[in-house]
Amino acid sequence: MAQPNWQNRTLFVADNIRILRGMNSESVDCIATDPPFNKKRIFNAPLGSRQAEQRFDDRWRWDEVTDEWQDVIATDHPAIKEIIEAAVVIEGGTIEPRTGRISTGRIQNSIAAYLAYMAPRIVEMRRILKPTGVLFMQCDTEANAYLRLLLDAVFGRRNFINEITRRRAEAKGLSTRRLPNNSDTLLAYGKSAKYKWNPPYEPYDIAMLNAANLDDAHLDEETRKTLQQYDKRDNDGRRYSLTDLVNPNRDRPNLTYEFLGVTRVWRWTRERMETAYAEGRIVQTRPGNVPRFKRYLDEQPGKPRDDIWDDVVQVEPSELDWDTRKPLSLYQRLVECGTDEGDTVLDPFAGCATSCVAAESRGRNWVGIDIDPVAEEATYVRLREATGLNMLEQPVTVRKSPPRRDDIELISNDRLRDALWNNQGRRCANPYCDSENLRKVDLQLDHRIPKVRGGEDGVTNRIGLCGNCNARKGRKAWGLFLDEERAKQPHDTIVS
Ligand SMILES: C[S@@+](CC[C@H](N)C(=O)[O-])C[C@H]1O[C@@H](n2cnc3c(N)ncnc32)[C@H](O)[C@@H]1O
Ligand SMILES: [Zn+2]
Repeated sequence: MAQPNWQNRTLFVADNIRILRGMNSESVDCIATDPPFNKKRIFNAPLGSRQAEQRFDDRWRWDEVTDEWQDVIATDHPAIKEIIEAAVVIEGGTIEPRTGRISTGRIQNSIAAYLAYMAPRIVEMRRILKPTGVLFMQCDTEANAYLRLLLDAVFGRRNFINEITRRRAEAKGLSTRRLPNNSDTLLAYGKSAKYKWNPPYEPYDIAMLNAANLDDAHLDEETRKTLQQYDKRDNDGRRYSLTDLVNPNRDRPNLTYEFLGVTRVWRWTRERMETAYAEGRIVQTRPGNVPRFKRYLDEQPGKPRDDIWDDVVQVEPSELDWDTRKPLSLYQRLVECGTDEGDTVLDPFAGCATSCVAAESRGRNWVGIDIDPVAEEATYVRLREATGLNMLEQPVTVRKSPPRRDDIELISNDRLRDALWNNQGRRCANPYCDSENLRKVDLQLDHRIPKVRGGEDGVTNRIGLCGNCNARKGRKAWGLFLDEERAKQPHDTIVS
C-alpha cells in the first residue's frame, strides 16, 4: 500500500482534480466530503476581497466540463457515460446521434454537466482510497439520486453501505406547493468488502435507566425494551443482564469441560472462565443451573445507531460566518465510524475544514483541498476554536501545486513504446485507423491526460498513434478526436 505523498495537516488550495491526480493510490483511509451543488453558494468570499469581485456563474454548464468528459469519461467509463447521457435526455438536452456530441444549451444548472464535473473526481477519490477505505459523500436533494448512480458506477453497487438521512436545523424552500426540505443525505461506500467500519452507538442515559422502573407509566418503547433486557440489579442499583456462556458450536473438544458442576461446550477457555468467576462476573442462580455471565448496562457502548440521524442538527457556534459550514459533531461521528486513531482522512471539498478539524480532534491525520483561497484562513480559525492545536509546533502546510506521485514507475520512452505497442495489439490506438504494416518505431506517443493537468508518464496516461493519426489529432482531446473519427465512418442511414 502506498504512503501518502504529502504531510499530515496539509491544505491544498486549488481545484481538487489537479491535486487528486497527484496523490498516491491507496493512501487514505477515509474520504468525508460535502461537494457543492449550487455553485453560487460555494463562493462565499468576504465582501471586498478579490474573489468577491470576480463574477461566478451559478450554473453548471456543459462547455465548462467538456474536456473532462472527453478525456476521462466518454472513452474509459462506459457506465458513467450512459448515466450522464440519461441525465442529458431527462433534462431535455441533445445528443447528436452520429458524433455523440452533447449539448445542454440553455439548461440552467445542468445536472448532466454537474455529473460530468463530479465523475472524474469520484474516479480519483476511489483510486486514492485504501482497499479498507470508506467514502462519505453528503448530497443535495436535487443531485442525490444522480450521485448515487454515479457512485454505484464507480464503486460498484455491492460496495454501497448506507444512505444516511440527517435532519438539518432550518428547512429550505418554504412553499405551500411542497414540503419544506429539511434533510441532507450522506451516501457511504466502501472501496471493497474489506472496508473498515466502527459501528456508531447512541450512549445510554445510565442515570435515567438505573432510576427507572418497568411499571413507570411514561416510559417510551425503546427504554422499556432496554429495561426488560437489563432486568436485574446489583445492591447499588447497577442494572445487568445474565447472558449465555454456552458455545453454539458443539464440536469444540478443547472448550468442553466441567465448570461449577456443569459440563458444556463453553464460549471461553477454562482460564478465562475462572478469572471472570473470581471477579464476580459469573453467576450460578442455583446449584446445578448453567452458570451465566453478568453483563452490566453501564459497560455497553449504547444503542446501535440506525441510518436516520436527528441529533446532529445545529452547527456549533463559531466566529466564522461561512454559510455551508456543517456540524463538527456530524463529521466527528463519520470519522470515528470510518477510521481508527492515526488513520488519514481526506476532504477534497473542505470548505472551512469541518472534516479536517473533526479528524484532528479525534487523533486522525488529515488532508484537505479547497479551491477558494479564503479556505486557508477559515481552516486556521476552525482549528484554533475546536482543537487547541498548537500550530507553531504542529504546523499546517498550505500548498497550491499538486504532490508528485511516487507510487508509479515513470518509464523511459523506449520502454513506454514497447508497452503501448503490446497493449494496443501492435497497431495504432485509433480504432478507426486503417494504416497497415505499422512498425513499432513508427509509433508516436501522445498524452491522454495532458501533463499540465497532473497527468503522468505512466502507461495508463499515454497512447501510441501512427504519424497520420497523431497529426490529425493534434492538441485535441482524445474523446473528441475519436468522436470525429467515428463520424467519418460509413454508417447506417437513420430512417425517421
Ligand atoms: C458545500 S462546501 C463544503 C462545506 C464544508 N463541509 C464545511 O463545513 O465548510 C463546498 C466547498 O467546495 C469547494 N469547491 C468547489 N469546487 C471545488 C473544486 N473544484 N476543487 C476544490 N474545492 C472546490 C468550495 O470552495 C466550497 O468551499
Ligand atoms: Zn492511425
